[in-house]
Amino acid sequence: MTQRPRVVLGVGGGIAAYKACEVLRGLTETGHDVRVVPTAAALNFVGAATFEALSGNKVHTGVFADVPEVPHVRLGQEADLVVVVPATADLLAKAAHGLADDLLTNTLLTARCPVLLVPAMHTEMWEHPATRANVATLRSRGAVVAEPASGRLTGKDTGKGRLPAPAEIVDLVRLLIEHPAALPRDLEGLRVVVSAGGTREPLDPVRWLGNRSSGKQGYALARTAVQRGAEVVLVSAHTQALPEPAGAVVEHVGTAEQLRDAVHRAAAEADVVVMAAAVADFRPAERAEHKIKKSDDAPDPAIALTRNPDILAELVRARRAAQTIVGFAAETGDSGTGVLDFARAKLARKGCDLLVVNAVGEGKAFETEDNSGWLLGADGSERPIRLGSKARMATEVWDAVTKFRTGSPDTPG
Ligand code: CTP
Repeated sequence: MTQRPRVVLGVGGGIAAYKACEVLRGLTETGHDVRVVPTAAALNFVGAATFEALSGNKVHTGVFADVPEVPHVRLGQEADLVVVVPATADLLAKAAHGLADDLLTNTLLTARCPVLLVPAMHTEMWEHPATRANVATLRSRGAVVAEPASGRLTGKDTGKGRLPAPAEIVDLVRLLIEHPAALPRDLEGLRVVVSAGGTREPLDPVRWLGNRSSGKQGYALARTAVQRGAEVVLVSAHTQALPEPAGAVVEHVGTAEQLRDAVHRAAAEADVVVMAAAVADFRPAERAEHKIKKSDDAPDPAIALTRNPDILAELVRARRAAQTIVGFAAETGDSGTGVLDFARAKLARKGCDLLVVNAVGEGKAFETEDNSGWLLGADGSERPIRLGSKARMATEVWDAVTKFRTGSPDTPG
């Protein structure tokens, strides 16, 4: 795509409309040309001036403005993606039934690009059979209806129906522009565990041994698994500040041993386990009760290390019937042995079903936005993953997992 991707941002009339401003900001800052199309009800929550200022484009709600430009047809036809934030129960119903009484619903009918509807509503409305049926209809026609988050709703209520974090919505938009078929509902009925981030192994109450893992790859795996229909437990060690994936149960841990306990607990019920966490291989043999002090009268302390358990190898040994286990390998290679040779040996040693291989070092993989690598299968298959976003890499992993589970042959992409 040479020009800026064109996104239509529909805004429904719910209180979460204010978060559409942050989504708009996130999209313009990442190089998207955004046309905002609010419903009349949305303008009760956010003024058109805000959308115009943030997008740099004029904003209309009805079909009778700029008539010679035929916007009710052109906006949808020309878009690379339409995203609706928030998609209210009313908007989902209209879209499911093909109603077209304003500019946004007309645009939804003319769009031939990926359509992402991001619902936000009270739990009762989300769970109502009418909404369930509308969501099923829209999904069956190829629209992506995002899973909402759980948590605080308007007023005193909590439950499922919160809008996912704006940064998460921006990620999903970017993924669907990059790869329109990235979010099929093919993980429905599966329980998935993903570990993410880097463990921290304490030396004393204020210091630890850690690593540079940002957690982004693991979070992208959890986020995309939820949106493909899985029930997801994300066991998160230390990460950069990242939005929690909507719809996932997130368990925060610190050390490798805590991560091990949480992953084993969740894995006992899971169909798929993905170990994306950077687990410290060693921890300090002693954890000082008080802060370690330097002293001119005593020699500088040496740190003795002890081995942490290999959680992935343990998971393979404790594997449930039909459970799929995916490992990650961060490799630099060395003067004699290449990244892939190390990775093949690691796959054999760990005994997992799939191994995602990242070449790391010199700015690759850690703390970066993009990733590339290979997917190695225990059946001897080998598939390169070209450079793309971490969400894109997550998509390749889930594609490989579903192929592995259904026994279909892997075809290099
Ligand atoms: N892993 C694990 N427990 C550990 C270390 C690693 O479960 N104590 C998992 C990681 O989550 C990853 C895989 O094992 O899925 C490979 O991690 P990596 O650090 O690349 O390999 P190591 O086993 O540490 O081997 P080496 O350091 O020799 O490369």
